[in-house]
Amino acid sequence: MSVHPDIRVLPADTALRPALLTLDVDEAQHAYVGRIADSLADADACEGSEPMAILCGAEAIGFYRVERSARSIAGMDFERATLGLRSFFIDARWQGRGLGALALDAAMRDLARRHPAALDVALTVNVRNTAAIALYRRYGFRETGGLYHGGRSGPQHLMVCALPR
Ligand SMILES: CC(C)(COP(=O)(O)OP(=O)(O)OC[C@H]1O[C@@H](n2cnc3c(N)ncnc32)[C@H](O)[C@@H]1OP(=O)(O)O)[C@@H](O)C(=O)NCCC(=O)NCCS
Repeated sequence: MSVHPDIRVLPADTALRPALLTLDVDEAQHAYVGRIADSLADADACEGSEPMAILCGAEAIGFYRVERSARSIAGMDFERATLGLRSFFIDARWQGRGLGALALDAAMRDLARRHPAALDVALTVNVRNTAAIALYRRYGFRETGGLYHGGRSGPQHLMVCALPR
């Protein structure tokens, strides 16, 4: 792999779906993120939820969903126009190589470009998910204080970050 791998994000259209459906995380990480088949089906059924593919070159390596309103992930309203980020993961075979950080940066830039009215991005992350919390903090996300209790495996931090301009 090159020092600067070509990381891109694209809407998870039908052409990308077969490759995306092969992606998975380690079994223990399913406490933090659901199965991609379920997430794709849920996104298709939910108005305002956009499934996104993370590509390294031509290869699908990860996935996330964008919620047009962060209310659907945090169960609360935000003072500023805020998008929601959920189900972010890098396939287990591709983790630990710096690609998650590059993908998060690409995702935030893509959101800023395609949602010019949005100011912030919010996400929830399990309090035990130290890898993801470190990744988000490194990028610039900050805990808002308080815990969100709607998670699949216990309490979650609500984290927010301004979109790049
Ligand atoms: C969280 C996740 C996306 C990170 O992807 P990745 O490609 O492995 O991350 P990177 O290699 O780019 O690492 C970026 C930063 O994340 C943090 N990080 C990644 N793996 C870590 C680990 N095992 N322990 C602690 N911090 C870790 C570090 O801050 C790291 O930066 P550093 O290497 O300079 O210290 C990946 O582990 C994953 O998909 N986990 C399962 C799904 C999940 O938990 N998603 C979050 C849902 S909210």
